[in-house]
Amino acid sequence: MAIPTPQAGSADIGVMGMGVMGSNLARNLARNGYKVAITNRTSAKTQKVAAKYASEGTFIPSEDVADFILSLEKPRVAIIMVKAGPATDACIDQFKQYMEEGDIIVDCGNSLFSDTRRREAELKAAGLHFVGAGVSGGEEGALLGPAIMPGGSKWAYDRLGPMFEKISAHVEGEPCCTHVGADGAGHFVKMVHNGIEYADMQVIGEAYDLLRRALGLTPAQVGEVFARWNEGDLDSYLMEITAEVLKQVDAETGKPLVDLIQDAAGQKGTGMWTVQTALDLAVPVTGIGEATFARGLSSAPEQRQAAQNFEGQAEPWQVKDREAFIEDVRQALFASKVVAYSQGFNEIQAAAKEYGWQIENGDMARIWRGGCIIRARFLNDITRAFEKDPELPLLIGDEYFYGKIQECLPAWRRIVAQAALHGAPAPVFSSSLSYYDGVRAKRLPAALIQGQRDFFGSHTYKRVDKEGTFHTLWAQQGRPEEQW
Ligand code: ATR
Repeated sequence: MAIPTPQAGSADIGVMGMGVMGSNLARNLARNGYKVAITNRTSAKTQKVAAKYASEGTFIPSEDVADFILSLEKPRVAIIMVKAGPATDACIDQFKQYMEEGDIIVDCGNSLFSDTRRREAELKAAGLHFVGAGVSGGEEGALLGPAIMPGGSKWAYDRLGPMFEKISAHVEGEPCCTHVGADGAGHFVKMVHNGIEYADMQVIGEAYDLLRRALGLTPAQVGEVFARWNEGDLDSYLMEITAEVLKQVDAETGKPLVDLIQDAAGQKGTGMWTVQTALDLAVPVTGIGEATFARGLSSAPEQRQAAQNFEGQAEPWQVKDREAFIEDVRQALFASKVVAYSQGFNEIQAAAKEYGWQIENGDMARIWRGGCIIRARFLNDITRAFEKDPELPLLIGDEYFYGKIQECLPAWRRIVAQAALHGAPAPVFSSSLSYYDGVRAKRLPAALIQGQRDFFGSHTYKRVDKEGTFHTLWAQQGRPEEQW
């Protein structure tokens, strides 16, 4: 049976897309006292949500987009929560037909920030506001309080922000939602958040792998170590759930579940976007990059099969002081994680400059403290670092983090060296240490690269001792240098 036409202007806000994320977001809004218009491409889902969760608040279901838009109070706020990509554009096209000047379309999907910029510009020309909002926290977050990263205009945020702040996670009384910046800034920050999440997961994975290889710990024992670490600097949602995953025993076989899961990591693409975008912006996000490539390597069956019998010529592990080794791994993990965050913030800073966004890094760390997957205690320290110096060029240069890295460095070096000696892959641990050593180097071999480039392509070079651009005539006798 078709849903009857709702009363015009009766809803505070609307959600299109009654998949898991969309329906949970709608329920969160309804539970917080908002009258929520809901609709879906196939209306059976709309009816189901309205009936099943009626006791949680006020849902105003619509059969189609026309009714849905008209059911919203003006200026209208309509959220799209569908599969990112063409489906988002299809929804926008439908919304446009029934919306009026000043209405707001909010895309809460995982859209690519450049799509958001394009959509925002197109809709602005039509007199509509478009807000790309990053929403993190998965299904549970959407229902119980996610971290929300809305971009778009300040005007749109004034209308939308109070609702989003109310339904977001709260930490120490503060909402995990703030206006990130204009047009695609929200989706950009969400993208980098996801990239950092990749690195965060990978460093935990590397620590787990080293503890198993070097000490022969069982998954459950590693889980206990992680539960202990979770009480200190490394206190985070990811550490907590990792401990749970490692302790899980398969009911059927009695074996650790993690040993029965295929070791081929999947991805939905946001880590890849973070790396691709970082390349465009020329920002080295080596931690995120290696974490993304590590997933790629794990999911390359042909290459892995071809290399199965490769000789490693690695020394066997012989750890004398097991507790000291565990502590070394913890420190290597912490330092590598700080580097990954530092690099992620550099990417946000570079994009802010490129696209003219006013992004407060400290606020980003603050809204990531709750609701989202990378929520962690040390985000408080990141917020403090950026509050002290909003222009901080490197998070690892902040007094607190610099001190921490200094504490961790000897252990970090030992672990990276041992991983290499004993044949254990630790791509993020080792690339993060290389980044640290690279960025602090007084001289880099980049000078030689410039010489090579000048030799084969006349790409020229600058000199340390005088102004100007130079080229050596490599093919000529005596190789004279000329100024360009
Ligand atoms: P889930 O969140 O449950 O994993 P999904 O398969 O990712 O769901 O789909 C999310 C939403 O995108 C659904 O509401 C889906 O509508 P249907 O229930 O009709 O499949 C919606 N969706 C996908 N493509 C769409 C399109 N082209 N136009 C409108 N909505 C679309």
